[in-house]
Amino acid sequence: MKKLLKWVLPGAFAVFASLQLFNPPRTNPPVKNDFVTAAHPPGDVAAVIHAACYDCHSYETKWPWYAHVAPVSWFIVSDVKNGREHLELSDWPADPRRAARQLERINEALDYREMPLKRYTLIHADARLTEAQRKKIMDWTDATAAKLRGAAKK
Ligand code: HEC
Repeated sequence: MKKLLKWVLPGAFAVFASLQLFNPPRTNPPVKNDFVTAAHPPGDVAAVIHAACYDCHSYETKWPWYAHVAPVSWFIVSDVKNGREHLELSDWPADPRRAARQLERINEALDYREMPLKRYTLIHADARLTEAQRKKIMDWTDATAAKLRGAAKK
């Protein structure tokens, strides 16, 4: 026990401390075209998407304190980087066909219950979607995508 306290704990602490030198940057670039402003979903849909998706799919990420602590920071920064690459709510397409396609992808991700990621909702209780919220967003994305596609055909 004495040996543990004398060598192993300080050793573990030194490793942990040196990991902190390898913290990846946490970026929030300027918003280009915000989804809510551009697509104007109803207030409750906007509020749920803000709470459940914006941390990983926008440039308005609220970085928690543990996103500053390696090795956890590596996983969080990687999720956000990946999320932004797949769907960017801060750079919403102006083109109606492309916007419709994004809405359909959101619809699919909710339908298959892929999003929001489980590892996120475990910690962020306010991002857990009720069935009613999920349906409300899906009904809206469905109707809006159809409308955009109809308008693009004319
Ligand atoms: C913890 C971070 C996180 C949160 C929160 C999150 N996502 Fe994602 N999302 C990702 C990552 C990472 C990917 C990349 C693909 C993957 O890992 O499944 C992704 C992929 C996607 C995709 C693209 C799927 C594809 O087929 O390319 C869509 C659409 C999506 N998310 C929608 C949402 C919606 C809608 C919400 C909110 C209800 C949400 N996400 C919340 C991290 C997140």
